[in-house]
Amino acid sequence: MRIVPLVERPELVDQVAAWGFAEWGHFNPGQTLQSRTAEIREGMNVDRVPIVLVALDDASAMLGTASLLFDDLEGDPRNPWLASVFVPVGRRGKGVASALVTAIEVAARRLGYPMLYLYTTSASRLYAGLGWRALERRDYRGEHIQVMDKAL
Ligand SMILES: CC(C)(COP(=O)(O)OP(=O)(O)OC[C@H]1O[C@@H](n2cnc3c(N)ncnc32)[C@H](O)[C@@H]1OP(=O)(O)O)[C@@H](O)C(=O)NCCC(=O)NCCS
Repeated sequence: MRIVPLVERPELVDQVAAWGFAEWGHFNPGQTLQSRTAEIREGMNVDRVPIVLVALDDASAMLGTASLLFDDLEGDPRNPWLASVFVPVGRRGKGVASALVTAIEVAARRLGYPMLYLYTTSASRLYAGLGWRALERRDYRGEHIQVMDKAL
């Protein structure tokens, strides 16, 4: 497996957007598949946020994705955020998400950020296993979320 910035594989933007819209579209009022796709297409960088990474197998099939965003939790002053970690069902349980999270941490550190934040509704155990610290729990857009951080 290798992890590369999505900007190197722009033909994968539609798939990344489709995964994210199916998983989190309901979380972003007013978002459409088209607007999510456009947002991702405009936000693909290597040396500044936002950064979208994709994991590829030896045949260059996409195994998953994760993003580094400046803001993610509306109204929250902390930044930046690990977001949109997604691995399709058939690829789960093989360490793809762990590798993507680590790659986002490395990218954020390289950009000089001392801390990284995330929120999750369901996967706090995954992040705790990677050294993330649980902060507050709260309700957000109708769901119960866990905010976490990691010193880089
Ligand atoms: C959560 C998700 C990204 C995990 O991907 P994955 O590639 O299977 O994760 P990994 O193989 O790296 O798992 C690493 C560890 O986290 C655990 N883990 C994985 N998914 C988990 C989940 N949803 N909840 C709790 N623990 C989880 C695994 O059991 C594994 O533990 P182990 O090392 O002790 O066996 C994937 O299930 C997914 O895309 N789910 C839908 C989207 C989502 O919930 N994303 C996270 C939102 S913040």
